Amino acid sequence: MAKLIQLSDVYKIYNPGENEVRALDGVSFTVDRGEFVAIIGQSGSGKSTLMNILGCLDVVSSGQYLIEGFDVSTLDDDQLSDIRNQEIGFIFQGFNLIPSLSAVENVELPLIYRGMGKEERRRLASEALDQVGLKNRKTHRPAEMSGGQQQRVAIARAIAAKPPVILADEPTGNLDRKSGEDVLAILRRLWREGRTVILITHDSKIAAAAKRVVTISDGKIVSDISRSDAEMDAMEQMAPAAKEA
Ligand SMILES: Nc1ncnc2c1ncn2[C@@H]1O[C@H](COP(=O)(O)OP(=O)(O)O)[C@@H](O)[C@H]1O
Ligand SMILES: [Mg+2]
Repeated sequence: MAKLIQLSDVYKIYNPGENEVRALDGVSFTVDRGEFVAIIGQSGSGKSTLMNILGCLDVVSSGQYLIEGFDVSTLDDDQLSDIRNQEIGFIFQGFNLIPSLSAVENVELPLIYRGMGKEERRRLASEALDQVGLKNRKTHRPAEMSGGQQQRVAIARAIAAKPPVILADEPTGNLDRKSGEDVLAILRRLWREGRTVILITHDSKIAAAAKRVVTISDGKIVSDISRSDAEMDAMEQMAPAAKEA
């Protein structure tokens, strides 16, 4: 079977010419199905650029990106949006919820775009909110919830359609420590359930939640370290489980 994600000598150059920025400067790495990877780097190191490419939201300047064996540069817009909708659940730092919609309506929105019927939509959205501990907040609007609860709605929205890949860019960046830990516990559980989780962060404490940590600096990968299964198990014994809202 093809690797889930395969980047080969990828460059992303903004403003080609005199003031060019090499946001990605020859990046090669692969991610297998079922991995839990953190990509860590300082501000400006190229993390969001990498996330946009991995998520098929942007294209490489040169090099190759294969997802499930498909060369992203050969796909048309419809095929790219199919991959984004069906393969990837996105979680962002800023939650990106629609203020006028309730929690369950926010979670349902991408399912509408997938053409799913009303009943199935409501069922999946409701299940996803249960999974993130928001059983009792389904009819609340974003303004009626804490930041941690809003991010959990955003996670429910990302996972409702059960995409195989979760791509999270600084998902704890706007949260207090406790809410951040809850979010990490949810990501870890999703990974244990078989999803591939890619977590992008500038914070080494957050990155330490993952089994594999890839460090990026000035657009280059400078280290790639994996923990053993035993170390992961030991860490999870220590980590708090996510609580109900
Ligand atoms: N659209 C853009 N146009 C020009 N430069 C950009 C653009 N987006 C990002 N950059 C530059 O690329 C580098 C990497 O940015 P980014 O991927 O956002 O890093 P990070 O997410 O790690 O903070 C930075 O130097 C940034 O200023
Ligand atoms: Mg960023």
